Formats: sequence, structure tokens, C-alpha cells
Amino acid sequence: MRFSLSHVLAGALMGIAGVSAIPQQPTSAASPTSVSSASPSQTSSSSSDQSQVCNNSPVLCDRHYNDITYMGAHDSAFLRDASTGNSIAGNQFLNATDALDAGLRLLQAQVHNENGTLHLCHTSCGLLDAGPLDNWLADINDWVVSHTSDVITLLLVNSDEENVSEFAAAFQQSGLSNFGFVPQSKTEWPSLRDMIANKTRVVSFITNIDSSSSSPYLLPEFDYVFETPFTVVDLNGFNCTVDRPSNAGTAAQAFGSGFMGLINHFKDQEITAGLTIPDTDNIVLVNSDNTTTAGNLGLHIQQCNTQWNHRPSFVLVDFWDQGETVKAADNSNGINQVTAFGTTAAVMDYASIPTPATCYADFCLIPVGTGSVSVAEEVAQVQRVLKASGLKYTMHSAGTTVEGSWEDVMTVIGKAHSAVHEKGVVRVQSSMRVGSRTDKKQTAEDKVKRVQDLLSKDTK
Ligand SMILES: *[C@@H]1O[C@H](CO)[C@@H](O)[C@H](O)[C@H]1NC(C)=O
Ligand SMILES: *[C@@H]1O[C@H](CO)[C@@H](O)[C@H](O)[C@H]1NC(C)=O
Ligand SMILES: *[C@@H]1O[C@H](CO)[C@@H](O)[C@H](O)[C@H]1NC(C)=O
Ligand SMILES: *[C@@H]1O[C@H](CO)[C@@H](O)[C@H](O)[C@H]1NC(C)=O
Ligand SMILES: *[C@@H]1O[C@H](CO)[C@@H](O)[C@H](O)[C@H]1NC(C)=O
Ligand SMILES: *[C@@H]1O[C@H](CO)[C@@H](O)[C@H](O)[C@H]1NC(C)=O
Repeated sequence: MRFSLSHVLAGALMGIAGVSAIPQQPTSAASPTSVSSASPSQTSSSSSDQSQVCNNSPVLCDRHYNDITYMGAHDSAFLRDASTGNSIAGNQFLNATDALDAGLRLLQAQVHNENGTLHLCHTSCGLLDAGPLDNWLADINDWVVSHTSDVITLLLVNSDEENVSEFAAAFQQSGLSNFGFVPQSKTEWPSLRDMIANKTRVVSFITNIDSSSSSPYLLPEFDYVFETPFTVVDLNGFNCTVDRPSNAGTAAQAFGSGFMGLINHFKDQEITAGLTIPDTDNIVLVNSDNTTTAGNLGLHIQQCNTQWNHRPSFVLVDFWDQGETVKAADNSNGINQVTAFGTTAAVMDYASIPTPATCYADFCLIPVGTGSVSVAEEVAQVQRVLKASGLKYTMHSAGTTVEGSWEDVMTVIGKAHSAVHEKGVVRVQSSMRVGSRTDKKQTAEDKVKRVQDLLSKDTK
């Protein structure tokens, strides 16, 4: 028999995930800038209904809870870091708070009874004991309290089949019970906006419990969620078949009766016959948002979406900070903007953000202190620099519009400064307005033409 350190209990799902997407601020800051003062005001992407963000995205506010893909950290409490002596049983490099900060919105873990107290233990408390459940839940509660526009999901594997009342005590102790969401029906889930407004922002699934009227927010997982298989050791082994619960039927039947789908997407490797551990060797491929290669996270999500004809609700991954896990959830949710994540630099390399591929700058170069009122000489010099650059430019009475890549445009303006300095002008001050947009390609000429078209209508 195969002994899997990672998933004897992976049956247990635990967390919910989240989505990332752009905080509103960057979204509106990225709205198009007009290139000339005459250009019509451009429609900004920000409008009043987008003033709220839910799980980091305005797009998700009006979507129902069960129509969103939440990226989740599998065995989120079991770390391969200094705190565990880099235990090979660990499934994550970074902890659950880091995961939430990075945009994951689902946390899964296993719970055992250790001498009468609920502990987060991996397979057994002798192997990896991450401490009492209520302490960990208190850390999650801290995050939930300070993130008022986020809905998260927890998925706890009740390995020792403890009574739901034991879990309720830990949830109360931590404060999380205050945020517990109680579904009114299995099929009708509210929008994130409504859950946020009601302050019921934590959905908690637990395996092997009976629901209880004294803690109605603790939900028996397999009444609501079905899962794909979880003991995968082969890159070709991921599929979208319903593995549990056995009574859910096919995926079509499961969706028909209101189940949400959970994709287990983590790979083990066999280190000796019968002993498997979480695979870090292939982690970049396994957690890639690509859809091209067997084993890619993006491909697995896409396949399940297609086969199920439903968006997967939950995805569990190991070592979530490797690959593009949050991006994969964004793709599944149809969120395509550049994504800004909380505070975890591990997910986005800010140093390597590219500048816009195209932009327009309307600039007016002003030599200061030449003692002459006319600037024709300097303007002619600037025009020579622009001509030599090969960029498209248009001179008008109050300045010049130049188009090209961000680097090229900024470089030519810098060269214009230098050329005027070389003429003996010691101080040059330019005013500039610069615009870039990613939704469509529009040249400065197009923009002027648009204004002319509008004006020509006025005279008719
Ligand atoms: C994660 O680590 C940070 C920094 O050590 C700590 O403040 C936080 O409480 C930890 N979160 C969890 C869930 O363990
Ligand atoms: C539980 O009891 C066993 C046996 O007495 C002991 O070895 C272990 O350290 C205890 N666990 C905790 C978390 O106190
Ligand atoms: C769980 O505990 C409650 C209250 O202590 C009790 O009424 C119930 O019968 C217990 N359920 C099980 C399955 O043991
Ligand atoms: C919000 O709370 C009200 C009052 O308790 C309840 O009627 C409504 O169903 C709740 N909505 C959601 C989305 O939970
Ligand atoms: C999906 O994977 C499981 C576990 O490996 C396997 O039993 C099942 O047959 C696979 N389903 C399909 C359709 O291949
Ligand atoms: C993802 O796809 C790109 C483009 O095909 C490729 O260059 C890259 O190596 C792939 N990465 C992984 C991890 O599969």
C-alpha cells in the first residue's frame, strides 16, 4: 500500500481561495490619458458601480459565490520552512496569512485530536504538528477583520471524526464564528457584495461532521462540494472525474444537484517504493498558468471548465508561491487586467514590470533665460532631433505630439533637451502630458480625426 505523506487525508479540503485582481486605485490610474488638449474626453474604465472591489476585483462583486474560482493552498498549515526544519512532509513554503495576502482565498488543512485538543497535524501529530486549531484560526481571523472586502473559504479535514461542537468551540475562541456564512439553500449562493454587506465573509467546510443548529455556519463539505482525485504522481494523471463524494454521480449530475467543483491540482513524487512526498522538482510546470503542457495548472482548470460546463469553484495547489497560481484563478474568472496582489512580492516581480509598448506624449519644451522672446531657433533644433529619431510626430502651435514605445518617446524628449543645451541654453523646462492605453490601438491622428468628425457634425 502506498503511504502518502501529503494526502492520506487530502480528502480533506480545506481552504478557499481567492482571487486577485486589481485594487480599484491602480485600475483607475490606468485609464487613458488624452494626447492633446483638443481630444475628446476618453471614457474612463472607472464608474460608480466599480467603486467597490470584492476579493480585489470590481468584476467579482456581483458574481455569485459559487460562480467564482478561488485559488487555494492545500495543506496550508503544513510548512516546509525553518519552523518545521524544512520538513519534506510540508506542502507550502509560505503560511496561510501570506497566502491570503497574495490573493488566495481558500485555505485547506487537516485536523486531529491531540490529547484532547484539536491540532493541525499532517497525517499524524508525530509527523508534523502545526499547533492548536484555535491559534491558527485566530491568525486567519486577524486577517479577515482587517480585510473588509474579502470573502474567504476554509476547508478542514476532520481526520479523527471529532464532533462538530469541538470545531464550533475553536471557531468561537478565534472570533471567526462571527463571520460565518450560513447558506439558505444549496443551489442559490449570494453575490460577494451581499456577503460582504452582511459581514458573513467566511465559508467553512469540514469533512465528517453533521450540521448542527448551534453552529449552522460549519458546513459538511461533501453536502456542497465534490472533488477530483488527489493522489497524482504522474504529470498526465490530473483529470476532472468526480472522486468524492461517491453519491454525487457524474460531474453533470453533481452540478445538477447544486454541488460546486473542487480541483485537486498537486503532484506527489515517490521517493522510495510506496513513499510519496509533495513534488517540488516539477512545481513550476505544475503551478504554471499555461494551458499547453500536461500537468499545467492552467490546462487542468481549462479542461475541467470545458468538461463540466461550469467554472470550477475551488482549486488546491501545493507551494502556491511557485508558478502563477493566482493568475490561473484570474484567468478562470475572466479577469485579464494586470493583476496587483496584496503584499507578497513572491508573486509579482515589481522590478521587471515593462513600460507601455506604445504611448503618446504631447510636450512643450521651454528654454528658460535665453533673453529672447522667440523660441523658433530652439524649436527647429527639437524638430531635427525628432526627425532623426524616426518616430511619428506632429508639431502644432503649442507643442509637439510624439508617438512610440515608452522608452523611445522618453529618450527622444531627453535628446531634445540635450540638443537645446548644446545650443548654449543652460536651463530647459518641458511640460508634458503622456498617455497610454491597452484596450485599443489609436494613433494621435485617429484622435484628432475623431474630434474633427465630431466638429464637422456640429456644422451640419
Ligand atoms: C504567518 O507568518 C507571519 C510572520 O511570521 C505571522 O505574523 C502570521 O501570524 C503567520 N500566520 C499564520 C496563519 O501562521
Ligand atoms: C500528547 O501526549 C503524548 C503522550 O503523552 C505526548 O508525547 C505528546 O507530546 C502530547 N502532545 C502535546 C501536543 O502535548
Ligand atoms: C456532538 O455533541 C453534541 C453536544 O455535545 C451532542 O448533542 C451530539 O449528540 C454529538 N454528536 C455526535 C455525533 O456525537
Ligand atoms: C443578509 O442578512 C439578512 C438579515 O439577516 C438576510 O435576510 C439576508 O438573507 C442576508 N443575505 C445574505 C446574502 O446572506
Ligand atoms: C481520473 O483519475 C483517476 C485516478 O487516477 C482514475 O481512477 C480515473 O479513471 C481517471 N478518470 C479518467 C476519465 O481517466
Ligand atoms: C509556458 O508557456 C510559454 C510559452 O509557450 C513557455 O515559454 C514557458 O516555458 C511555459 N512555462 C511552463 C512552466 O510550462
